[in-house]
Amino acid sequence: MKTLESQQRERLPVHVHATADEACVELAREIAALIRLRAAAGKMAVLGLATGSTPVRLYRELVRLHREEGLSFKNVTTFNLDEYYGLTREHPESYWCFMHEQLFNHIDLPAPQINLPNGTVPRAEVFAACQAYEEKITALGGLDLQILGIGRTGHIGFNEPGSGRDSRTRLVTLDALTRRDAARDFLGEPNVPRYAITMGVGTILAARKIVLLAWGEAKARVVAQAVEGAPVESLPASFLQGHPDVRFLIDEAAAAELTRYKHPWLVGPVEWTPALTRRAVTWLSREVTRPVLKLLDEHYSEHGMADLLTEQGPAYDLNIRTFNEIQHTITGWPGGKPGADDTHRPERAEPRSKRVVVLAPEPSDDVLGMGGTLTRLVEQGHEVTVVYLTSGSLAVPDEEAQIVSDLVRDLASSEPAANPEPHGGNDENASAHSRRLKALLRRAEARAALRNAGIPAGSERFLDLPFYEQGRYRQFRPTLFDSVALAGVLRELRPHLLFATGVGQDPSSVGAVCFSILTTALSQLDAEAWSRDCRVWLYRTPDKAWGAHEIDMAVPLSPAQLSAKIHSIYQHKSQRSQTPMLGASLHEAWQQADATARGLAVTYDALGLAEYEAIEAFQRWHATPAIASASPKI
Ligand code: F6R
Repeated sequence: MKTLESQQRERLPVHVHATADEACVELAREIAALIRLRAAAGKMAVLGLATGSTPVRLYRELVRLHREEGLSFKNVTTFNLDEYYGLTREHPESYWCFMHEQLFNHIDLPAPQINLPNGTVPRAEVFAACQAYEEKITALGGLDLQILGIGRTGHIGFNEPGSGRDSRTRLVTLDALTRRDAARDFLGEPNVPRYAITMGVGTILAARKIVLLAWGEAKARVVAQAVEGAPVESLPASFLQGHPDVRFLIDEAAAAELTRYKHPWLVGPVEWTPALTRRAVTWLSREVTRPVLKLLDEHYSEHGMADLLTEQGPAYDLNIRTFNEIQHTITGWPGGKPGADDTHRPERAEPRSKRVVVLAPEPSDDVLGMGGTLTRLVEQGHEVTVVYLTSGSLAVPDEEAQIVSDLVRDLASSEPAANPEPHGGNDENASAHSRRLKALLRRAEARAALRNAGIPAGSERFLDLPFYEQGRYRQFRPTLFDSVALAGVLRELRPHLLFATGVGQDPSSVGAVCFSILTTALSQLDAEAWSRDCRVWLYRTPDKAWGAHEIDMAVPLSPAQLSAKIHSIYQHKSQRSQTPMLGASLHEAWQQADATARGLAVTYDALGLAEYEAIEAFQRWHATPAIASASPKI
């Protein structure tokens, strides 16, 4: 394959698709072709499969091909990469269960042709069981195709950092970050198994073809390291570089840290759009640690931007233009400044008082992402409604619900205790009563946070969207019921400004699912006059900060406003000890919110703009036809 100049730093082939769905359709078609080719020759197709959020869309597409296009799996044998050690097959978080729910139960794959490591073999027999797993793969002629996801540690299968290139199927200890990432599924890190059985790196590399999938911005860094860095044990996915038929199939969000996306001017000629120019100038300022207005011609030419200088220079013109652009993003008036000339302001001056809707995928996203701006909007006379899209009940640990349950029981001491069921990781089986209690707890906390932020009582709505109530983490399936419910509220509230989050997140996350529901709802409302006048602003939860070049509106916070925001975050007490929210505890979440808001102020300062205590940032969102038409099905 010919490598473009812009891909020269990439040590293995990377195919970037606009969306995960698009990529999965391509791969499913390839798998179908392989299966049919083998069937025509009277042979088995041997597939290596992965679990986790990443392949869920691929499995849905394979099921669709089976149901709608007659793809048969009768000549397929599957081997899964891994299984948690200590979980029975019946445990709802076992990979056995996952694979059956996501794929095997919906296709005609004969049960004897399904293979997963057994998580319940006694310790003394693990070694022999692992060897038998390897031998079975070899006896069937080896893996034709291995599907992989990638963990944030750089693991493939459960080959954590430190795994050797030649490692084989074995019992491993899970990395702390991996256990933390799994905490949502198990409702708390303590419930996550410590060990797993995994195919080794060597086992994976023995497959004839390997496709690694990755979606969402959280994977961007590790993908770039695996693709552009040297192969090292500290990042096992980098060993894939040595394979003769491997490719990474990723979405744009996961590609964001590849040099050709992040710093394209370093790897070839580029078209200098205004957005790219701003990105390059802010990058250059950071690189040479000089404020934008002090950049010189030679800084540009020495950093791969000589053509930019020729096109748009000299440096001082470029500097001034970029400086002004960034300067214009700063406003203390997120809802527009009444009576002011708004030519260069992020938001319109009129109408003076706007209807503002803030969409929070889960309670707490609102204050985490834009707590300070929320307060400003109210203080500046706008009519603010916060719409909580999901109940957030899945993120409440049992022990927190137990406290409330005890309290309620003591209050109405005649009633029997409403105990949440202890479940050791299985929220699906938690009683409806427990889920309800958890949802109410989060409502109370959300109200407390709004009170603290100075938002008048009654400004909140709780939608409890059905996809969340009926789903589980990683496995949500939005339907038209969700978008119709959201469209109904928006139609009623007719906002001038809509704040939303979730763009670029892992498509199976609550945030991304909520955003896809929003785009569907907006397309349903397209014809209504108010909706054409409605501006959508994106905010981010603090685990992922905007870069200075991505920001369209920067709202400064005073020291007092920042501490009020942190105090609002602290009202979400049910999140204190656990990791479901952002993969962090409440303590870590507020620290992150604090650091992100302060960090952005430091960035603006370093670019040569005013020095603030903290900044909350927003990006204007414009619907693209591709996104607007991506409607979920009932
Ligand atoms: C799963 C597996 C893991 C995952 C990885 C990414 O069988 O082997 O390597 O692929 O942890 O997980 P998700 O897809 O949940 O982000």
